[in-house]
Amino acid sequence: MTLPSTIAIDGPAAAGKSTVAQRLAAWLGYLYFDTGVMYRAVTLAALEQGLDIAGEAGMNHLAKTLTMDVQPPTADDGRQYTVLLNGRDVTWEIRRSEVDACVSTVSAHPKVRQVLSARQREMGQRGRVVMVGRDIGTVVLPDADLKIYLDASVEERAQRRTLERREQGQPANYEGILERMRERDELDSRRPVAPMQPAADAVRVDTTGLTEEEVFDLIVGVVLSGRENLSDSP
Ligand code: DC
Repeated sequence: MTLPSTIAIDGPAAAGKSTVAQRLAAWLGYLYFDTGVMYRAVTLAALEQGLDIAGEAGMNHLAKTLTMDVQPPTADDGRQYTVLLNGRDVTWEIRRSEVDACVSTVSAHPKVRQVLSARQREMGQRGRVVMVGRDIGTVVLPDADLKIYLDASVEERAQRRTLERREQGQPANYEGILERMRERDELDSRRPVAPMQPAADAVRVDTTGLTEEEVFDLIVGVVLSGRENLSDSP
C-alpha cells in the first residue's frame, strides 16, 4: 500500500486541525507544518512596529523581509513547535488576542499570500509532510496526495477555544470568542484571494461532537483506505 506523502488539512479555526495533524505527522514520521503561524508572525511584527495592517505595500514588504523559522519545541510548556521571528521566540505571543483580531486582515492581502504561499509550497513539495491551513488543498498544494477538510459547528469551536484559553490560565468569555470566531470565518471565507473552502477533491470530516481520539481514528482510517467522503454533505 502506498501512503499519501503530501497531506493537506484545511478548515476553520478550532476545528481540530492542529491536534490531529500533529498526531498524524508523528504517527507517519512526517513533518507537521501549521501555515497559520506564518500569517500570525507577520501580524505580530506589524503590530509591534505600529504599521498599518490595512496597507498592502507595507505588509508585503514586511512579509518579504521578515525572518521566520519553525523548529521542534524548545520548551516543555505545551507548545507543538517553537516559532522564531527574527531569531526571537514568539510561540505564545502569536496566539495573543490582538493577533487573533488582526490576522484575517493581514492574510487577506494577495501579495502577502503570494510570498507566504510560495514558501509553504517549497516546503510541501519535499513530501512527507502534513500541512495545515485554509488554502493548502486549493492553492498551496493543489496536487497534494490527500486533502482533508475539517469542520465543526461554530458554537462547538468557540467552546473548544474557550476551554483551551482557560486551561492556559487566560481569561476567556464564550460569547466574545463566538462572536470573533464568526467574524473571522466570514473574513477568511469571503476574501477574494484563496478563500477558505474545501477543495473539490477533499475528504470532508465534521468533528462536531467527536473527541480528539475519534477524530484521529477517523483520519487514520482515511489515510489507510484512500479517499472516502465522510461528511453528510453531498
Ligand atoms: O489557523 P490559525 O488560526 O492560526 O490561522 C490564522 C489566520 O491565518 C486565519 O485567520 C486565516 C489565516 N490563514 C490563511 O489565510 N491561510 C492559511 N493557509 C493559514 C492561515
